[in-house]
This record gives sequence, structure tokens and C-alpha cells, in this order.
Amino acid sequence: MDFAEQVKSSVDIVKTISEYVQLKKAGGSPRYTGLCPFHTEKTPSFSVHSSHQFYKCFGCGASGDVFKFVMEIERVSFFESLKLVAERNGIDMPKRDYSDPDSKLRGALMEMHEIAARVFQSNLNAPAGAEARQYLAGRNVTPEQIAEFGLGLSDASWNQLTRQFESRFAPEQLEQSGLVLKRREGPGFYDYFRGRLMFPIHNESGKVIGFGGRALRPDEERKYLNSPETPLYRKSYVLYNLHRAKEAIRKSDYSVLVEGYMDVIGVYSAGVHNVVASCGTSLTNTQVRALKRHSESIVVNFDPDTAGANAAQKSITMLLDENLRVRVLDLGGDLDPDEFVKASGAEVYRQRVEKAPSYFHWLADRARGKFDMRTVEGRMEGFKFIAPAIQRIADRLERFAVANDVANYLGVDEKLVREHFSKGVKEPGPVHRRPDAPPTERLLLHSLLASQAARSLAIPELRDLPAVDRFVARNVFKALFAMHSDGAPFRFADLEGRLSDADRDLLSSVVFADEILEEEKAAEQALACLRSLKSQDPRSEAAALRARIKAAERDGNLQEAMRLAEEVVALDQKSRSVSGTAR
Ligand code: UTP
Ligand code: MN
Repeated sequence: MDFAEQVKSSVDIVKTISEYVQLKKAGGSPRYTGLCPFHTEKTPSFSVHSSHQFYKCFGCGASGDVFKFVMEIERVSFFESLKLVAERNGIDMPKRDYSDPDSKLRGALMEMHEIAARVFQSNLNAPAGAEARQYLAGRNVTPEQIAEFGLGLSDASWNQLTRQFESRFAPEQLEQSGLVLKRREGPGFYDYFRGRLMFPIHNESGKVIGFGGRALRPDEERKYLNSPETPLYRKSYVLYNLHRAKEAIRKSDYSVLVEGYMDVIGVYSAGVHNVVASCGTSLTNTQVRALKRHSESIVVNFDPDTAGANAAQKSITMLLDENLRVRVLDLGGDLDPDEFVKASGAEVYRQRVEKAPSYFHWLADRARGKFDMRTVEGRMEGFKFIAPAIQRIADRLERFAVANDVANYLGVDEKLVREHFSKGVKEPGPVHRRPDAPPTERLLLHSLLASQAARSLAIPELRDLPAVDRFVARNVFKALFAMHSDGAPFRFADLEGRLSDADRDLLSSVVFADEILEEEKAAEQALACLRSLKSQDPRSEAAALRARIKAAERDGNLQEAMRLAEEVVALDQKSRSVSGTAR
């Protein structure tokens, strides 16, 4: 067994995927389902099979094993995925020099970021960090918060990191790090961040992949300087603080979205641990999906200024389009979340988060302020103000429910509302595909997949059964037969590997669609299927026997050939007597 196989057989794919997707067990079976992390959907078509250790989305077709999943979701190479999975399960990687250049580069970049984070932190604690420490103290950031969020300080010297890196890493690696820049004139590099307060940015597994750097003085040209895009840091995928927040997001079943690094720190320290921010970019749908993997509800708490309001509106549209349930926390006044927590206290903020109204009620409240709610016309105007947002809800029933709810809230006649919403967006139908293979094939396939005993007992007979050639899933069976002849230990992934895309789909639809089988019962069931197949077609059984006779003769096994010949005779008699009685 190679190392990857070893890792795969000792980790639980369900546990690994659960780190990213909320999975529900389907009955007493080893199947789990959830919302697909790779496309937008409302009903779960993403399935994970714990005994075959693979996943499949019946909506978008994504499928594979534990490594493939981590590759896709973390956007890493196979090698890195292997490493990640092994690491998380406490399995040591064998010491070898891997030559995949992609992994090598990313490995080097990871190391540089680890070094940089350490260096920045120690700068902040050093005597030269006095001004920065004072700045933080002035903003009521405690030493505990500094430690928890790994805050640091970049050296003002232009070459602190460069000096550390140049001896250890190749120039091509330095060039792609986003931490140092190539000099325009002459050879060498210089530090990208200088004299800034540094906020490390982590990926979902908690590794530092970038930084945000805040100016310490108000006259600085740029308030924030962020890491550029690098092979490690893809801004549109990353949310600040997600690795710390994800557990709390699941527990509370919602996330809180704020604008800034400082807001995250302030809000998190107020005990609201399910808080994240997009790092200086407008929210993307890949970020929204990352959140949605942990919960489908969200509270949006943006800054009170116009920029904040615009950003909030854009984000909310994005969130609604990804089918999240959105609530809005409008703190009033002109304080951002961080300042609000400091001014009013953690408890008040927590209550405000909990009581945040749904986006539609929040809109309705704004409508109340804009239109005269004492008149029917005013109320209808108010309703029309909100209608376009309601119209965007893809699910028809939900659209009606929200419309009625808001109408009641504003005191608008429900009949008018129904008229307004009778024509809506068409909802795409469910994407679940039923397996095309008939029951006997499915049962048989299940039993063969479930147990070695079933395979040993049934495959030698099945192989020669002409009925198999007419199976919908014949290619799957043929592949199973071929694997059986090879004598290698059975692995689900190997079977998949032998199939075309269409047959792979067929296989997964069978595996996920039916009730699962206990291993002990599998052999029994396989034989029952075999009997049933034979009885359906005695002539083909006879043909199968004749083929086996030929094979036995070819092998020189005359005894076996004789025994089979007797079976043919018996079968012929049986089929004659059957047709005899029928006459
Ligand atoms: P804010 O200006 O609200 O910053 O920008 P903040 O985090 O609240 O910081 P303080 O309280 O002023 O110290 C919100 C976020 O927008 C991004 C950063 O991610 C910041 O946290 N931003 C802002 C930039 O990327 N560049 C900028 O120049 C400004
Ligand atoms: Mn702020």
C-alpha cells in the first residue's frame, strides 16, 4: 500500500468533509448528505458514503475521494491535500524529496509566511514596538487580543524580512511571496510591509497566507496595505477569521459579517465568535459559499457611513442570490462595530446581534421612514419599495411567505400582494437522478461491493451469465470482474478508476440511492440475485454452463466439465418440464 492509500484507509472521509460541510446522516445507512460546497443549491444533492469513502454531488457532478475533496475545497495540489489530511489525522509524512514544483513553491511560501508572522510578532514585543503597542493600548486592544490574533509589527528598515529570506529561498520564490519586492534597479529585494501594524490572514485550516498592514499614523498615504494576490492568497476565496469562527458559526447556526480587521477583533472579543470579514475586497460568491458551508444564516453588520451602506447592499444582494437567510444589524449612530462594542459594551452588542431583524423587515422599517404609513397609498408605496428584493427570492413558496409577512408588517392587503407576486422567477427543478439500473442489478451490485465473500461466490458464475451483457450497468460489472481476476484487494476507488464518466455516475447513483447492506447478508443476497437471474432465463443459464464447460475443457479440467455437463442435462429436463406443464 502506498502512503496515500495508507492515509486514506485510516481517515474518515465523513469527518474530514464535515469540517467544511454540514452533513446529515441518511437513516441508519453509511450515507450522509448536505448542501454541495461546489455549486449553489437549496436542496442537498451532495452525498458522502462512509464505507466506500467517497463523495458525489448529483447536482454538479463533483465527486472523488478525501484527497480530491480537500484539493478542490482548499484549492491545493494532490500532494498538499495528502499532507493536510495526514497532518490533521496525526499521521507523519514520510521524509522524501517531493519534486512537484507547484507544491514546492507553495511550501516555501507557507514557510515564508510563518516566518514573517513570527518576526512581526517579536517586533511588536521588542523595544522598537513601543509606539505600536501604545497605539493598540490607545484603541483598547488588550495583550490577550494581540496574542490571540497574532498581531505584529513590520520593521521600518526595508530589509528585515528580505535578509531572512534571501539566504533560505530562491529568488523565484521570493518574487511570488508578496512579502518582498524586487528592486527596480540593481539586484535584490526589499520588504513590502514597513512600519505597519500587521494582521495575519489565515486560510480555513489556520495557516497564515497573507497579511493586512495598517498604518500607525493618520498622515500615512494608505491606511491599509494588504498582501497582493499570490499562489497562496486568493483574495476572493478568503475570509478574515473564518478558521477561528467556523466552529461558533456552526454552533450558533449563523455568521456575522463585518467590514474590517479591527471590527472582527472587537466583536470577537465581545464573545461573538462567529464573526468574519472580507479582507478589503467586496464580498464574492466564493466567499459566500465558504460561509454557507457552515451555516445558511448570516447577520450583516457594516459600517454606518455611505461606503459601508453601499458595501452592505452589494453584499446582501450576493448573499440572497446564494440563498442565505440574511439579517441586518444596523447599529445606528456613526460607530463601526468595533467602536460600538467599546462604547456600549459586549452585552449590549450581543443582544443587538441576536435581535437583528431579517433583511426584509429591516427594509420594511426603512420604508416606514420614507413613506406615509397612515394612508393605504403610502403603505402600498412602501411595499413596492421592498418588492424587487422579495422578487429575487428563487423559491416560490418562500417568496410568497416573505411577501405576506412583509405585507402584514406594513399593513398592506394580502390580496394586492398575491397579485403582485403571482408571476415570479421560475425555480429550477430538483436535480436528483434516480438510478436507471433495475432492482436486481442494483441489489447485486450492492452485495458485490459490500463483501469479499459475495464477490468470491458470485463473480465466477456471473461472469459467464449472458444476462450480464444486457445489464444497464454491464460495464460496472465487467470492471468488477476484471478486478476480481486481477486478484488485487478490492478498492472502491480502483473500481471508479476503471469506469467512464457515465458509468461512474451510474455507479454512484446506485450506491447512494439504495438502502445499504450488512456485510454478512451480502453473500446471501448475491446468490439470491444470481438464482433469480438464472431462473428468468434458463436457456441463457444453459448457455452459460456450456461456456463454462468449454473453459473447463480448455483448462484440462475434465472433472469439472463433466459435472457441469450433468447440470446442463438437469437444466434441460427442468425447462422441458416447465414448458410441458405450461402447455
Ligand atoms: P476601515 O477603514 O473601516 O478599517 O476599513 P477598520 O478595520 O475599521 O480599521 P480602523 O478601525 O480604522 O483601524 C474596513 C476594511 O477595509 C479594508 C481593510 O480590510 C479594513 O479592515 N481596507 C480599508 C483596505 O483594504 N484598504 C484601505 O485603505 C482601507
Ligand atoms: Mn474601524
